[in-house]
Amino acid sequence: MMTFWTQYQPTKVIFGAGETDNIGKHLSEAGYKQVLLIADPFMVQSGAAQRLVDHSDGIIVGVFDKVDPNPTVQNVDAAIKKIQEFKVDAVIGFGGGSVLDCSKAASAGYASQLTAEKLVTGSKITAAMPLICIPTTAGTGSEVTPVAIISWKEKDIKYPLSSPLLYAAIAIDDPRLVYSAPKRVIATPGVDVITHCLDALTSVKHTPISDRHALNGAKIAFDNLEKAVNDQDKKALDNMMLASLIAGLAFSQTGTTGSHACSYYLTSKYRVVHGEATAFTEDEWFRVNSKARPELNQMVQTIGFKDAEAVAVRLNEVKKNIGLRTTLEEINVPLSDLDTVAERTIQANNYINNIIQLNKEEIKQLLLKKSASSAAQS
Ligand SMILES: NC(=O)c1ccc[n+]([C@@H]2O[C@H](COP(=O)([O-])OP(=O)(O)OC[C@H]3O[C@@H](n4cnc5c(N)ncnc54)[C@H](O)[C@@H]3O)[C@@H](O)[C@H]2O)c1
Ligand SMILES: [Fe+2]
Repeated sequence: MMTFWTQYQPTKVIFGAGETDNIGKHLSEAGYKQVLLIADPFMVQSGAAQRLVDHSDGIIVGVFDKVDPNPTVQNVDAAIKKIQEFKVDAVIGFGGGSVLDCSKAASAGYASQLTAEKLVTGSKITAAMPLICIPTTAGTGSEVTPVAIISWKEKDIKYPLSSPLLYAAIAIDDPRLVYSAPKRVIATPGVDVITHCLDALTSVKHTPISDRHALNGAKIAFDNLEKAVNDQDKKALDNMMLASLIAGLAFSQTGTTGSHACSYYLTSKYRVVHGEATAFTEDEWFRVNSKARPELNQMVQTIGFKDAEAVAVRLNEVKKNIGLRTTLEEINVPLSDLDTVAERTIQANNYINNIIQLNKEEIKQLLLKKSASSAAQS
């Protein structure tokens, strides 16, 4: 039993279908007078961003939507400029994890007087604008984490910024925002929820609270993800928004581990979407990590699994049922590049959180199990 641990989670969470229509009330209760909306381009096109502006009682004074999936240093710098231009006292991030992360990085870059390149090369965040995060995917949990992941595409780098100053002041989890999302936008962030939970369980920083959140989040996601994707069932989508939030509460304390460390290069080099990239190796990381933390075999029994192996098998089944790719061949990663994938995994600054520190050759062996020709595919 772990005897020392800490918990820090300063974000006020507001949860409810349709709750974004009360945005004006929430902003004025928090004392914000002029706010910039950083919105997902799709949310602008669909009219959802305008609906938010219309319900803001005039507090939202500007909209910025130049944010790419896997937000770039250029996106962050452009958002910082907009914060300067509109002289706002708070920022809203309204979108998937990409927009939330861009908003977090921009609010920190602006207040710390740092460019995005300075942020991703390790300059210290010393201040951040107040931030309201409204996820439109279920999801990354970014609305309750102290992390923002920014890409430097020219260098094939995805860099996780981390600072307690990156916590949002307010998170509004409104499942209605995902009711009409296409299947793929439910599937990939949804499987990311499972990887957040399994990563939290396999982090050296796990705590009794993060363990319980991670188990609860995984149970809800395993029970609801297929129905959410394949039937676009509202109750299942409500549950996925809840699971995403709970997973965020877990990994906000533990950081992410092997599956995420391994995913960044798969995304930056091979354009595998974030959730699909993290889930790609998660089953193997969970198998290997459970050898280093054998109590996981008993812990997962509390959510209905026989042991850690059963979790790995079920995860692969879910991935296939929601249309995700499961082999290196399908995601077009040649075996000749596995050395680099392994090297980049070790270099990722969250790899240190992983409970078992595999060396390059061992990571390569883990990756080889993802080859279609491997007998270990399950
Ligand atoms: N900060 C963190 O704690 C954290 C955790 C996990 C992932 N992430 C990051 O989040 C990003 C992934 O986020 P994501 O999976 O939410 O996807 P995303 O934000 O990249 O969005 C994917 C696509 O879905 C669209 N979209 C978003 N919401 C929609 C909706 N309701 N309806 C229709 N389309 C919609 C977007 O326009 C985009 O084209 C990655 O960059 C990843 O690194 C951050
Ligand atoms: Fe993730």
